[in-house]
Amino acid sequence: MDPRDSVRVGLVGCGFMGRTHSNAWRQAERFFPDLPVRPILQAVCARNPDEVAGFAGQWGYESTETDWRALVDRDDIDLIDIASPNDTHAEIAVAATAAGKLVSCEKPLGRTVAEAVAMVEAVEAAGVANMVWYNYRRVPAVTLAKLLVDEGRLGRVFHYRAKFLQDWTISKDVPQGGPATWRLDVDVAGSGVTGDLLAHCIDTALWLNGPIGRVSAMTETFVKERPDAVTGELRPVGIDDASAFLARFDNGSLGTFEATRYARGHKALYTLEINGEHASIAWDLHDLHRLQFFDHGDEGRLRGWRSIHVTDGDHPYMKRWWVPGLQIGYEHTFVHQAADFLASLGGGEPFHPTFRDALATDRVSDAVLASAKSERWETVAS
Ligand SMILES: NC(=O)c1ccc[n+]([C@@H]2O[C@H](COP(=O)([O-])OP(=O)(O)OC[C@H]3O[C@@H](n4cnc5c(N)ncnc54)[C@H](O)[C@@H]3O)[C@@H](O)[C@H]2O)c1
Repeated sequence: MDPRDSVRVGLVGCGFMGRTHSNAWRQAERFFPDLPVRPILQAVCARNPDEVAGFAGQWGYESTETDWRALVDRDDIDLIDIASPNDTHAEIAVAATAAGKLVSCEKPLGRTVAEAVAMVEAVEAAGVANMVWYNYRRVPAVTLAKLLVDEGRLGRVFHYRAKFLQDWTISKDVPQGGPATWRLDVDVAGSGVTGDLLAHCIDTALWLNGPIGRVSAMTETFVKERPDAVTGELRPVGIDDASAFLARFDNGSLGTFEATRYARGHKALYTLEINGEHASIAWDLHDLHRLQFFDHGDEGRLRGWRSIHVTDGDHPYMKRWWVPGLQIGYEHTFVHQAADFLASLGGGEPFHPTFRDALATDRVSDAVLASAKSERWETVAS
């Protein structure tokens, strides 16, 4: 095969996101057979040799590495796909770019704005294609929301509202650090729910409703000390357990955002709502194939919230899957992302979100954390 028609993927990390990415690369060419560029699962890397060998066999990678540097040095890899914890993103992305690779990276882009800026500068100076896996943009119902907003159906937007709720760290016995609970270790994660959960809400908000100018935030760390997962020693907790902020968008609308891991009963409840002059839309990750739409232009007697089952052939992405009425799920959002990225490599529509797009999200997160600390409104840097 002509190597220009394929991209040889080197994946870093074989945890939760390693699985979603591997599935995405595999399924993209099956369900998008007209893609101009075909992914090849060339190699996977993780530090534990048994973990990485088992993963390679399960997903069909041709070879393995236990040090990402060895992966980056290989001549038979075109794309480095970063699905490892946040403290690895910047170093791997910058090295991969220097080696002339294309780079895809999990969110948040960097642990800090400084890391994210270095990553953007690296990919832009090298002129390599890049993308960040903010996958919720490619839930068909969310993509449909974007089309409706862009068509002007909402008119002037007044309110944007989003929350992302979980409940898995309420017990003080949940440790920090280590392979399973690195998200609770500020040195690895960079922040708590702000960079982990709110980052998704912010990315979607910037995409649907434009830039955020100023924020006023509060954060809380409910459990102040947790055992280290490796040593068992009690250590102060540096992450935010909950984060909420008010936002002023540049288009004049007001935003409210909330994320927490302390909302008992909620496992991954991402919801968003936009209220405009003519219409409103609402979406809920637990019912992800539906978009709620209220159009004030409807005849008065029949006016009400429509619950659109986003499964028809003329809905975004859906003609690629089953017959109308049959819904798809979470993993498909990654397949859509992989397919759109491969299409862009073959000369199709430019791909978003890029590293630069994800830097904008990191800048809002940074202003949120700064505001929580200063207890003042903070301007989002541009
Ligand atoms: N897009 C999303 O919705 C979404 C969801 C979950 C996680 N994420 C992001 O994906 C990334 C990974 O999260 P996860 O939940 O898959 O984590 P995970 O803990 O399930 O998996 C991490 C993997 O990285 C490997 N790893 C760790 N350090 C490494 C190193 N130095 N070199 C090579 N491999 C290393 C681990 O062995 C493991 O296989 C994080 O940045 C996270 O924020 C994004």
